[in-house]
Amino acid sequence: MKIILNRNKLIKFIDSEKNLGFVPTLGGIHNGHISLIKKSINQCNKTIVSIFVNKTQFNKKSDFKKYPRSLKKDISIIKKLNVDYLYLPTEKQIYPKGPSKNIKISPFGKRLCGKFRPGHFEAVVDVVNRFIKIIKPKKIYFGEKDMQQLKIIDHFVKKNYPNINIIPCKTIREKNGIAYSSRNFLLSTKEKNIASKIYKLLLLQKKNLNKNKLNLKLLKIKILNFGVTKIDYIKVLDINKLVRPFKKKCKYKVFIAFYLRSIRLIDNI
Ligand code: PAF
Repeated sequence: MKIILNRNKLIKFIDSEKNLGFVPTLGGIHNGHISLIKKSINQCNKTIVSIFVNKTQFNKKSDFKKYPRSLKKDISIIKKLNVDYLYLPTEKQIYPKGPSKNIKISPFGKRLCGKFRPGHFEAVVDVVNRFIKIIKPKKIYFGEKDMQQLKIIDHFVKKNYPNINIIPCKTIREKNGIAYSSRNFLLSTKEKNIASKIYKLLLLQKKNLNKNKLNLKLLKIKILNFGVTKIDYIKVLDINKLVRPFKKKCKYKVFIAFYLRSIRLIDNI
């Protein structure tokens, strides 16, 4: 595996690659990332992974500071998977003139997490766009755990880079049901148990929620009683139209964002 820190060196190495798969990450590599990387290795001639803790997409300085960083461990995991290139850029290389101010994203960016994290999705799209310009991948891999991010990036890439495919990858869960996330590294055992209880409750009540047989207010109270610090939202949405579903057969999901202490977790079930 080639580990590359320099943008121009990277471009020299990958310039002739015709079928390059790209897995962008913030590091804190876990089984979710591993499944994305394996899919890329299966589908592409070469695979490149990036680790870049993109400051601009964090709404709070404290969240950026405490984001799990485990570079040595990450490199060793990625190496074992036989990834071809690992790109570890500096902030200067990604933002030589600072972040963009005029990124236009899908209207879906204003809902769910977008309401609570103003500017977050614009910053994610900005950094992904910058990586696309450097790497010129054929396929980019994203986890369905971050469904809103996936949809927003897919919308942006379809519009601006019609030759690049965004590949959605199924959410990978721990045995207790929690979706793998780098933020899980920050949770205590007790907090993990709470997150697991929430997953199980939502799975059980998904149908009732959609049929309005369960009152959302009551469900929120139940979840708060588990020991959750705050709930940003719980919403049931048709995942294709991103509106509240009414038809029985449409593919819908329950979207949730909540805090355990100051750790914000999201999921869709
Ligand atoms: O999902 C993430 O890990 C990040 O938002 C991404 C796509 C790597 C952009 O920084």
